[in-house]
Amino acid sequence: MNSALYLDQAHHFPREFAWGVATSAFQIEGAAQADGKGPSIWDTFCKVPGAIADASDGTVACEHYQRWESDLDIVANLGVNAYRFSVSWPRVRPGGAGAWNAQGLDFYERLVDGLLARGVAPYLTLNHWDLPQELQDQGGWANRDTVHRFVEYALGVHDRLGDRVASIATHNEPWVMAMLGHEIGNFAPGVKNRAIAAQVAHHLLLSHGLAVQALRAEGCKADLGIVLNLSPTQPATNAPEDQARTVLEDGRLVRWYMDPLFKGSYPADVMNHLGEDAPTVEAGDMAAIQTPIDFLGVNYYTRTVISAAGPWDVKQGGLELSDMGWEIYPEGLTQLLMRLHQDYSLPPMYVTENGGAFKDELHNGRVHDLARVKYIKEHIGAVAEAMRQGVKMGGYMVWSLLDNFEWASGYEKRFGIVHVDYASQQRTLKDSALWYRNFLQRQKAASLAAVSTGD
Ligand code: FCB
Repeated sequence: MNSALYLDQAHHFPREFAWGVATSAFQIEGAAQADGKGPSIWDTFCKVPGAIADASDGTVACEHYQRWESDLDIVANLGVNAYRFSVSWPRVRPGGAGAWNAQGLDFYERLVDGLLARGVAPYLTLNHWDLPQELQDQGGWANRDTVHRFVEYALGVHDRLGDRVASIATHNEPWVMAMLGHEIGNFAPGVKNRAIAAQVAHHLLLSHGLAVQALRAEGCKADLGIVLNLSPTQPATNAPEDQARTVLEDGRLVRWYMDPLFKGSYPADVMNHLGEDAPTVEAGDMAAIQTPIDFLGVNYYTRTVISAAGPWDVKQGGLELSDMGWEIYPEGLTQLLMRLHQDYSLPPMYVTENGGAFKDELHNGRVHDLARVKYIKEHIGAVAEAMRQGVKMGGYMVWSLLDNFEWASGYEKRFGIVHVDYASQQRTLKDSALWYRNFLQRQKAASLAAVSTGD
């Protein structure tokens, strides 16, 4: 398949398709202690020596908390009709339980109203990893009580913003919080324990289901869903060991989340593999997790190649790599969307994150990030191809609006279509932003033409 070519053939997406850019609170806001915000597990984790590649943290980040208005002007200027952002739980309820922080809620209210005033639909994520530290001190996501605190948090945010946002996603990438946060331990809170990771994954899914139920009971009008990081898993060779291992890793990455959400049970092979480390599941949990949702968010960056012998060297794949060292594999996005569509009965899917880190250089007010232009163009082409094959897609969002704090990689990796000079906080549209704006203008013109010809 040549997805780039397919895109060039004047393909036009449905008029109501959501075109967006995405960010998350901890990665851009800064203002870590301003206006009553409490500490999150990422504020704590950044202080662990060696945890962050450049020893940085989120204290200042992109100063979006102060610069949100001009940042929203940039968003509007791109011509997108959707903006995906997250609410910082410790900014609106500093201890995770107890008192709410009016100044924090006011900030998100201004942000949402600012988006609406600019004609951009707000796509809100409740949990993009920044759990209040006080809840972590009581066991965090490993503690079942956190599930109930999350439901309260969802209701509190809904109370203030629910009437104005287009969409609410409960969690961003539960696999990352469970696996990187609690099994591998290279992300906050830095736990390294497989049994805890499995319990955390279960509590995240359970809190998702219970929050969706509670929001529905409140008459929530926004679309409700969850965002998963998914990828096609492929064996490094045809050797039976590699193939068997690939099935298991697909189980841990994809089916462990998709099966409970859409089939109501955990995959038996992964349960067997976990053995004594399998999570405690109480009566009623699986039914709650399977509560119907309005959309599934899919974050896609690369494929996953599995070798039974140990970590696979990406250089063997012969594909171009991004600055994260991730393989660039747009056809994997079509494969993934097709597979999800075939294996599950799904609501519309959105690509809620897709993009690349590259070594950008700012010269005379320009960043010629042609590798990123190619990346985004080919991945949009891959979405178009899945749609052509019958997959129902609701939107596509670029990660990210701005260069930002890339977790354990700190500020060394740049994902933005808008460059940030961290010393001056100056924003500069990269060529990828200019390309996206132009692409969206052409999409709009094509839908207007389609309306006038009755197409
Ligand atoms: C995803 C995260 C997002 C960003 C991208 C590069 O896993 O959701 O915050 O860091 O990766």
